[in-house]
Amino acid sequence: MGDELTSYERWGRLDGKKVLVRVDFNVPVELREGRWHVTDDFRIRSALPLFEDLLARGATVVACTHFGRPKGRVVEEFRVEPIRERLATLCADVTLMENLRFNPGEEANDPAFGASLVQGFDYYVNEAFSASHRAHASIMIPPTLVPSAVGPNFRREVEVMRGIIDSPARPFVAIVGGAKIGDKLGIVKVLADRADSVIVGGGMAYTFEFAQGRTIGSSLFDASYVAQCTELLSRDNVLIPTDTRGLRDGSPIGPGAGDDPVLDFGANVPDGCEGFDIGPETVERFIAAISPAATILWNGPMGLFEDDRFARGTEAVARAVAASSAFSVVGGGDSAAALKKFGLSESVGFVSTGGGASLELVEFGDLPGLRALRESPFS
Ligand code: 3PG
Repeated sequence: MGDELTSYERWGRLDGKKVLVRVDFNVPVELREGRWHVTDDFRIRSALPLFEDLLARGATVVACTHFGRPKGRVVEEFRVEPIRERLATLCADVTLMENLRFNPGEEANDPAFGASLVQGFDYYVNEAFSASHRAHASIMIPPTLVPSAVGPNFRREVEVMRGIIDSPARPFVAIVGGAKIGDKLGIVKVLADRADSVIVGGGMAYTFEFAQGRTIGSSLFDASYVAQCTELLSRDNVLIPTDTRGLRDGSPIGPGAGDDPVLDFGANVPDGCEGFDIGPETVERFIAAISPAATILWNGPMGLFEDDRFARGTEAVARAVAASSAFSVVGGGDSAAALKKFGLSESVGFVSTGGGASLELVEFGDLPGLRALRESPFS
């Protein structure tokens, strides 16, 4: 899959040519002693093989990325300077343009802004899988104007995702978690049709628990999705938590937030309390469902794992995924961060760089950025 997309390797030698590479260097940063520093350069390192190959072919390489959500204005804290500094230590010969989202034309998919980006360039490569679910100018317009290609990481992401959706080795177990039910319900529906089991955990699971007639106290909840949850619960391959752990309302939460006692609620969260993790019985059930898998897709944590008191469920699932002999694909920044926290990043088959993009690819089988490349008049 993705075979219909042009590879930049077809262009051969690139002496004297200028190549614009759209990357996703939307990376985490922190402020230390008055300066911003990149805290995880995975996305930057991932682009290096492409940069090095283009440079070896003789090209002048310029990269462009968005960074944060400055909403079409210049916002000092979203300047790409810290990213530029890190890139310079890894690959000094690639120039990085300023944040694309400083210009309102980027998110508006403005053809004039898109054209200005490739002005003076001979070629364009999209290596920004994780941003290609956004129909933004830097993704959509260059392929209409210059010969364009998909980057190697982007191609691999598409091959892996489509492979496990279209022809997974079975049993295929999908694990979906995280807080935002609105973002994830579509994928749960698609997976309920395709996977042998779909495990649902994290903040989104409380709306399912409510739909089952259980009490959820003040846990995360979205009334607008109850009917859809009820429908999904009628499928016998959708598994949700049967017990939960959390705190009394008002207790501090978050990394290192405090030591208020953690409460095991069983099936029902009482009034005045909130759930933040799956309970011990659920951990056992989920591990039992994961162990026989031949294919695993995991997107989203089982609880508020950033707070060590509520990391047990996510850690147990991460360990079960890592210990399984299945081909395992982990998508989404939070799940990748969880793997990193538990030292398991190297123990899974494939870690996707894209959260939203992976979800859209699974749900709709396509992405705006893929369409733009496929429909390029230069393809
Ligand atoms: C990401 O980090 O998930 C991508 O860079 C997309 O960022 P966005 O959600 O701000 O478009």
